Amino acid sequence: MPSERPTGFGIHDLSFASTRFVLTHAELSRHRGDDVSKYHAGIGQRAMSVPAVDEDIVTMAAAAAGPVVERHGADNIRTLVFATETSVDQSKSAGVYVHSLLGLPPQIRVVELKQACYSATAGLQFATALVHRDPDQQVLVIASDVSRYDLDSPGEATQGAAAAALLVSADPALIRLEGPSGLFTRDVMDFWRPNYRSTALVKGKESVTAYLQALEAAWQDYRARGGVPHGDLRAVCYHQPYSRMAHKAHRYLLERCAGGADPLAVDRAVGLTTGYNELLGNSYTASVYLALAALLEGDDELAGRLVGLFSYGSGSVAEFFAGRVQPGYRDHLRTAAHQEAVTRRWPVDYATYRDLRETLLPTDGGHYSLPQQTAGPFRLAGIRGHERIYEPTDR
Ligand code: HMG
Repeated sequence: MPSERPTGFGIHDLSFASTRFVLTHAELSRHRGDDVSKYHAGIGQRAMSVPAVDEDIVTMAAAAAGPVVERHGADNIRTLVFATETSVDQSKSAGVYVHSLLGLPPQIRVVELKQACYSATAGLQFATALVHRDPDQQVLVIASDVSRYDLDSPGEATQGAAAAALLVSADPALIRLEGPSGLFTRDVMDFWRPNYRSTALVKGKESVTAYLQALEAAWQDYRARGGVPHGDLRAVCYHQPYSRMAHKAHRYLLERCAGGADPLAVDRAVGLTTGYNELLGNSYTASVYLALAALLEGDDELAGRLVGLFSYGSGSVAEFFAGRVQPGYRDHLRTAAHQEAVTRRWPVDYATYRDLRETLLPTDGGHYSLPQQTAGPFRLAGIRGHERIYEPTDR
């Protein structure tokens, strides 16, 4: 007898990890001589994750995905998509290191995707199509990034780092993707990072305008293709370069497309989505999925409700789509582990943060060992002849 056709496809599990260290915006404002309310109220940020010298996108990604593999096994995972814009190699996918650290079977395709903060959503959509073709398969989509702007630039307050791992499957336990996607691509230089730079270049105010214009265009495409009206969405998870952006974006959407924005309606739609992002900072590709984690963990009445997701990657590509929260979703959340990932970070003062930022990995092909600083399960142990050496820790 053929097995019954699944009723939907989407996110079955969601796990995130961040860094060893954290810089608070109170500490940043002391260094800069700014009023801290510019950060707390103005951009809605309280702290940003700062990687230890032996942490990077690979160690965070493996830390995020490890618990997913532990819970579900690896037998059905046939594809690993690694989404990042802070890649560590021009050729080799960071996902291959993760594949090795997690001991995944060799019968898997692994690939890295890039389009600024958008690529995890591309990964999710590609994964859903693969699973639709063969519902026995699962796809591991990992978004991992470290956001870095020049020191003392306006962007510095909007840095951060985190990885989110999504297991995409048939009959998902958390979110079933539903309805069309609204899409929008435009060649715009709002934020970019040439290969020879370790920090991003950004036209701050223009980037906010580009984000909002892309939101409006993606929303219009979503509606034109049969997407539900905004009133049918219980909440919207926005890409959050800083958490006030979610409020700004929803207000803009309602003003442009619904004739007005009641502040209470804006707060109801995005208020529960910002909890992790305001403490971790901009995690680029992972950001919209940290918003989803915060929403699912913060609201216990979402079963059966539709939530919107808006993914924006500078440069720029945007997508608006929706998913229906599944009955029993609360039983599959990782609230305690996520809260621990946030609270166990070690606060650093501005001078220590600056030292960490200025510690550059050698590029001369020599052999270097890195001190163990991470409290996570994997570390970058060193570099030997241009090869990155990763290893598990005893954590
Ligand atoms: P800035 O010049 O530091 O700050 O730039 P500001 O003067 O514009 O102030 C920010 C807000 O705080 C303003 O409110 C002020 O009024 C308010 P708004 O006009 O936005 O409503 N403010 C205060 N509020 C209370 N008390 C005070 C106070 N002082 C000021 N005392 C900017 C801010 C975000 C532009 C800057 O940090 C930056 O350039 N960040 C990087 C770029 C960015 O995050 N862009 C977002 C859209 S693009 C995107 O999301 C893509 C991205 O994630 C990259 C990717 O796709 O890969 C970045």
